[in-house]
Amino acid sequence: MWAAMTGIARRHLIAGLAGTLAAPALLFRARADANLFISDSPFQLGVASGDPDPRGFVIWTRLTPGPSAPAGRLPARPLAVRYEVSERPSFDRLVAEGEAIARPELGHSVHVTLDGLQPDRVYHYRFIAGGERSPTGRGRTLPAEGAAVDMVRLGVAGCQDWQGGLYTAFRHLAREDCHAIFHYGDYIYEGGPRASLWSWGLGETVPVVRRHEGPEVVSLDDYRRRYTLVRSDLDLQAAHASACFLCSYDDHEVVNNWVGDHVSRSDVPPEVFRLRRAAAMQAWYEFMPVRADAFPAGGISGPWRAYRWGRLLDARMLNTRLYRTPQPCGDQFGTTCPDVRSPTAEVLGRPQEDWLVQGLLRSPATWGALLQQVMMMDIDRARRPERGINTDSWAGYLVPRDRLLDRLQARANLVVLTGDEHQHWAGEVRRSGADPASPARAVEFVTTSISSGSDGPGERAEHAAVLARNPQVRYVRDERGYSLMTVTPAGWQTDFKVVDTVRAPGGRLSTHMSFRVPAGRSVLERA
Ligand SMILES: [Fe+2]
Repeated sequence: MWAAMTGIARRHLIAGLAGTLAAPALLFRARADANLFISDSPFQLGVASGDPDPRGFVIWTRLTPGPSAPAGRLPARPLAVRYEVSERPSFDRLVAEGEAIARPELGHSVHVTLDGLQPDRVYHYRFIAGGERSPTGRGRTLPAEGAAVDMVRLGVAGCQDWQGGLYTAFRHLAREDCHAIFHYGDYIYEGGPRASLWSWGLGETVPVVRRHEGPEVVSLDDYRRRYTLVRSDLDLQAAHASACFLCSYDDHEVVNNWVGDHVSRSDVPPEVFRLRRAAAMQAWYEFMPVRADAFPAGGISGPWRAYRWGRLLDARMLNTRLYRTPQPCGDQFGTTCPDVRSPTAEVLGRPQEDWLVQGLLRSPATWGALLQQVMMMDIDRARRPERGINTDSWAGYLVPRDRLLDRLQARANLVVLTGDEHQHWAGEVRRSGADPASPARAVEFVTTSISSGSDGPGERAEHAAVLARNPQVRYVRDERGYSLMTVTPAGWQTDFKVVDTVRAPGGRLSTHMSFRVPAGRSVLERA
């Protein structure tokens, strides 16, 4: 498998080398027939780019069958797809071009790893197959290692339950001119079609605005159909086309609140769950613009990786699902129990934790960022008179949490970016039980959902109690949207963006709140 992936990756032809790297004869046999697609574009799922480094990034597409394809499927053979890369949207001069193979084993998805590009530069890319040209996407390489960087603009988004609402926020995010977009996960939700869903914010059941296409997804084909449905959304396609995504997964890419080999509150045997997880991870790989090291091997895709913007920002994307021990307290949200202090608990697992700590302590970058999934602040959820936590967050794992904060204590300017909560949150991260007046170890910005949970009221009934019981929390807001990080050597600004509705097209965007973190101090200032 690795040899095949490397072969695909090497087939891109940088201009100037085109004459020396002729396409092998196989590609002529693999060439896609134009009549497979008739007038329908094979690029109905759009294009995407991701995982940038100073020399390139991954470009992605996935062929879809046209109306005349036999049995509504593409043939079970490799199909050739041409790609073109240019510094100009006109494509009048190509800096890279070549052919990749869309293999049936991978659902005719295409991943091309561009290499040899210039650092810190915008490139445009497109694909050609069956006589049709794809929409154009753009991506930006990272700055050269050690470069002085004035500013980075990072979008953050995730939790996009198809049934929860429209992806209007992605349409707005596509216009933000982001250097990259961190997707924290819950790209799909695994459940079947529903007529209505519970809105935590509204405290009532609301009708869904659109439905899943089939029952709960379990097999590879099921997961592929669910991703195909979600990726058909033009607002999501616009966001993908606008910038490189930094893709991670959370729980719903597989099943609610899975960790390691375990499904929360379930009796599924680990060996059975691993089969489902392998199907889910293959589909995730097929649909995400990720590098070859994310190719599922042994049924898992478990990369963690660093994205460095010169000497300004060292952002480390974490995997908080795959190596985690099971949730404490029976994973009952809003409870607590002695097991939250289990000395054997792990969130990242030691190899990932060591990589994170050693990398951030050695990094010369002004800012260090953790791009991850579940909340790091230890929050009392204020659902009942006694203390209760989200057992599926770092608050349920206080030993590895405090150990990580201790190990990173010498690291200044630490920012944690999180998803999962379906609300915007901002606050300070301290060791558990620390004096709220003591200096914080980091600040955390939690980005709300694109659509999960449907429209929110802004303020929830429990917010007053949450803020009163948790002095480290500075802001919480229940609305749909995304967030925008503007990072400079002097400070880090976070803009919390919200749309006024996801239940009807055309939701209007506003910035509900902005915070600034001055370099040198882990404090939140209203911007
Ligand atoms: Fe979610």
